Amino acid sequence: MTEPPKIVWHPPSITRDQRERLNGHRGCVVWFTGLSGCGKSTLANLVDHKLHDLGVHSVLLDGDNVRHGLNATPQLLEESHGAEFAARFGLGFSAQDREENIRRIGAVAELFATSGLVTLTAFVSPYRQDRDAVRARVEASGRAGDFIEVFVDAPLEVCESRDPKGLYRQARAGKIKGFTGIDDPYEAPANPELHLDAAGETPDELAERVVSFLVSNQKINR
Ligand code: ADX
Repeated sequence: MTEPPKIVWHPPSITRDQRERLNGHRGCVVWFTGLSGCGKSTLANLVDHKLHDLGVHSVLLDGDNVRHGLNATPQLLEESHGAEFAARFGLGFSAQDREENIRRIGAVAELFATSGLVTLTAFVSPYRQDRDAVRARVEASGRAGDFIEVFVDAPLEVCESRDPKGLYRQARAGKIKGFTGIDDPYEAPANPELHLDAAGETPDELAERVVSFLVSNQKINR
């Protein structure tokens, strides 16, 4: 039997506290979750803008963009790395692929947050267990309250009527299998830090709620 590889965690020489003092605010993860088309990306981008204007160091990890690089699809990887590599490392939308998508993003978000950044993520992240695993990891390496789950709640009918990418139409026609909300579940957060009515309020109102939450929870100053 081969020995397991020995890997040892090295504590960074610049601490999180030092980075946060330099930045003048805390690092944290603001995790937007909701159905495709509920407005996660729009909202996260608006929050990013507002934070930037306040002088806060923020970063945005957005679903469709991350699936072009870090979590590339098998189709994208096949062109550059061949079929075997693509089958092994490319991520699609099976339950296990989504689990790995969220696990990798969670690990990156944790690194960013511990570097003192307000880290915004916008992924469907439909499975409660996967989101809870990221929460546990982020809180274990930081503090309770470092993971802020934001449920961007818009009814399926609303998301489907918006259908910005035409994917719901394709899912209804059976051209996409396992589409969240149609033939794959969306497990709504049981106890999110913020539950937003994404069909009833404007994106700007929703973004203000998120920024206010960060201020009142002493993550940032206004
Ligand atoms: S997640 O489920 O793994 O969190 P992620 O947020 O990265 O999903 O990507 C979701 C986006 O991929 C959707 O907004 C949609 O544009 C696209 N998509 C393609 N196929 C699916 C599918 N089967 N289910 C949900 N979204 C899909």
